[in-house]
Amino acid sequence: MEKPKAMLRCSFRRLLTYPVAGQTRKMSGASLAGSQGSLSGKVAIVTASTEGIGLATARALGQRGAHVVVSSRRQNNVDRAVELLQREKIQVTGTTCNVGKSEDRERLVNMTVEQCGGVDILVSNAAVNPFFGNIMDSTEAVWDKILDVNVKSAFLITKLVVPHMEKRGGGSVVFVSSVAGYQPIQALGPYSVSKTALLGLTRALAPELAQCNIRVNCVAPGIIKTSFSQALWQNEDILGEFKKQLSIKRLGEPEEIGGVVAFLCSKDASYITGETITATGGMSCRL
Ligand SMILES: NC(=O)c1ccc[n+]([C@@H]2O[C@H](COP(=O)([O-])OP(=O)(O)OC[C@H]3O[C@@H](n4cnc5c(N)ncnc54)[C@H](OP(=O)(O)O)[C@@H]3O)[C@@H](O)[C@H]2O)c1
Repeated sequence: MEKPKAMLRCSFRRLLTYPVAGQTRKMSGASLAGSQGSLSGKVAIVTASTEGIGLATARALGQRGAHVVVSSRRQNNVDRAVELLQREKIQVTGTTCNVGKSEDRERLVNMTVEQCGGVDILVSNAAVNPFFGNIMDSTEAVWDKILDVNVKSAFLITKLVVPHMEKRGGGSVVFVSSVAGYQPIQALGPYSVSKTALLGLTRALAPELAQCNIRVNCVAPGIIKTSFSQALWQNEDILGEFKKQLSIKRLGEPEEIGGVVAFLCSKDASYITGETITATGGMSCRL
């Protein structure tokens, strides 16, 4: 028979290992870096990472031991994000990069290689949406902007990092799509189409890049509380309509996407490529 004290010790240990369902235990960088999902020694570029989902993703990768390179268009946003992550003891480098500009994409990748020694992970997170309305009212300029930033730049930055990943023996690419890529959101037609294109890009790249030991995956978030989605959650009526479609009756938090991306980049996902993980609180996703 086990002694009561030993039993207590054992249950306590179990509690530490399996925190009560529903509670999120804040793990320190060190404990995550030592786990199966460890990204120690990896270098990760996350685009559009000075706030929202990008910043949460940079934090999740950094907490697991990766050196993260954060970027966005505005220097003051980059400085703020770098300071924040440094305070959290995350290894971080920052630079400006408008992903729609080829010279910026090249500078980001070159700087990463020069300062961090290579690239293992790319999270292509940047997107714009300059248009709300009936799709038939959208102009060529709107389509050019949305496809350039949301789709073309995602491919072109992947093309830039692949040779560097090959030099490291492999890597992981994650695109950030959206639930809108499965079910176009009313008034966001062109944006939704661009997000569907990323599902296709993931599947088109995965078999080709598997030959170089590079996995390509995608995450499709539902409605996540960030400034990007303000128009959807600030209006009570619109929010109410969305909530009807949710099983988990609340908006998502950026951290709930960052963790999924970090999983896809980790060893735990070593047999996953060409997939899109939906993280939508139960909103139905079907093409
Ligand atoms: N929030 C949602 O509900 C939701 C749902 C599904 C998918 N998503 C997707 O998640 C991704 C991130 O969205 P978010 O909600 O996290 O947005 P967010 O909180 O508004 O953050 C946007 C970030 O993008 C940067 N940025 C904007 N344009 C850029 C450009 N051309 N090049 C580089 N950086 C740029 C911004 O910084 P600067 O202003 O300094 O450039 C900022 O850091 C997007 O791909 C979006 O489509 C979001």
